[in-house]
Amino acid sequence: MKAAFIERFGGPDVFQYGDLPDPVANPGEVVIDIVATTVNAADWKVRLGEYKHTKFPLIPGRDFSGMVSAVGDDVNDIALGEAVFGVCEAGQEGTYAEKVAVKAAIVARKPSGLSHVNAAALSLTGLTAMSALEDTLKLQRGETILIQGGAGGVAGFAIQLAKHIGAHVVTTASAANHDYVRGLGADEVIDYKARDFTQAIANCDAVFDTVGGDVAQRSFAVLKPGGRAAFIASGAQAPKPQRADVTALRPPVGRARRHLQRIVELYDVGAVRPPEIKLYRLSEAADAHRLSESRHFRGKLVFQVR
Ligand SMILES: NC(=O)c1ccc[n+]([C@@H]2O[C@H](COP(=O)([O-])OP(=O)(O)OC[C@H]3O[C@@H](n4cnc5c(N)ncnc54)[C@H](OP(=O)(O)O)[C@@H]3O)[C@@H](O)[C@H]2O)c1
Repeated sequence: MKAAFIERFGGPDVFQYGDLPDPVANPGEVVIDIVATTVNAADWKVRLGEYKHTKFPLIPGRDFSGMVSAVGDDVNDIALGEAVFGVCEAGQEGTYAEKVAVKAAIVARKPSGLSHVNAAALSLTGLTAMSALEDTLKLQRGETILIQGGAGGVAGFAIQLAKHIGAHVVTTASAANHDYVRGLGADEVIDYKARDFTQAIANCDAVFDTVGGDVAQRSFAVLKPGGRAAFIASGAQAPKPQRADVTALRPPVGRARRHLQRIVELYDVGAVRPPEIKLYRLSEAADAHRLSESRHFRGKLVFQVR
C-alpha cells in the first residue's frame, strides 16, 4: 500500500511517500481501505517524537473513513465492503495510508448521506468534543462556556455541540475567523489578538481549552466560583489552577462505537455540520503538517486517500 511515513523524528521534511506492506486483520480486527483521513495536532507531535514511538517506519494518523476490505476471525458485526469510520485505539497511529487494521469494536457504520471526507473530519474532533462537554464538563442548558481556539477542529465541533445543549457560547478566534465561528453558532467572539480574553469575559460556568500553554493556565481566571475547566492541549494532565474554588479536568476521549454513533445522530438531526475542509493528497503530508503546525487555519485538513 502507499503511505506517508517517517523513518526518523523531525520537521515536516522527514515525510516520505511510498510503498509499505499491507496490514492484515488479526482476530477481532478489520482492515479498512481508507478513503479519507485527517491531520490532527497530535500527528505533528508524533512526527517530532513527543510521543516517544520507537518503531520505524512510522505512519502517523489516527482517524479514518473507508471500506472494510478484510475481516479477521471473531468479527461478527462488521462485514466485508461496509463503509465505516472511526478513530484508532489510543496509542495506535497509522492512518496516513491506503489501509489500516483496527479493532472492529471501535469502528461504526458510516451513513451514506455523510461523505468519507466529512466522516473522517468529524470523528476524532467529535469524540473529543463530546467527551469534554458532555461527559467531563457535564455542560447544562443555560450555562455559559468559553471555548478557546474556536476556529480549530475540535473547538468547531464543540461550539456546535454546546449550542445544541443550549449553552451560551463564547469563543476566541483571530478576526479573520470571526464570521466562521459565528456561523458555527458562537454567541460572542473575542479577538484574542486584540484583547486579553481575561479582561473580556468573566463568571463562566465552564471553559473548554483547545489551545494549551499560557492560554490554558490563564483560563481559570474567567470561571465563576465552582466553575470547571477541561483541557486537551496541555498533555495528559490538566494544568493546576491557582485558585481553590474551581475544578481542572482532562477528558478521557474513549473510542467505543457508541460514541461514533452519537456523532452520526448529532449529524442526522442537524446539530453539527462538518467543518471547513482543506483537501490534500497523502504525498503532500509535509505541506499539510506545515499548515497544521502553524496553528492558524480554519476547520480541518483532510487527506483524500483514494
Ligand atoms: N484526544 C485528545 O486528547 C485530543 C484530541 C484532539 C485534539 N487534541 C489536542 O487539542 C488541541 C487542538 O486540536 P485541534 O486539532 O482542534 O486544533 P487545531 O485545529 O490545530 O487548532 C488550530 C486553531 O487554533 C486557533 N488558535 C491558535 N492559537 C490560538 C489562541 N492563542 N487563541 C485562540 N485560538 C487560537 C487557530 O485559530 P486562529 O487562526 O483564529 O488563531 C486555529 O484555527 C491540540 O493540542 C491537540 O493535540 C487532543
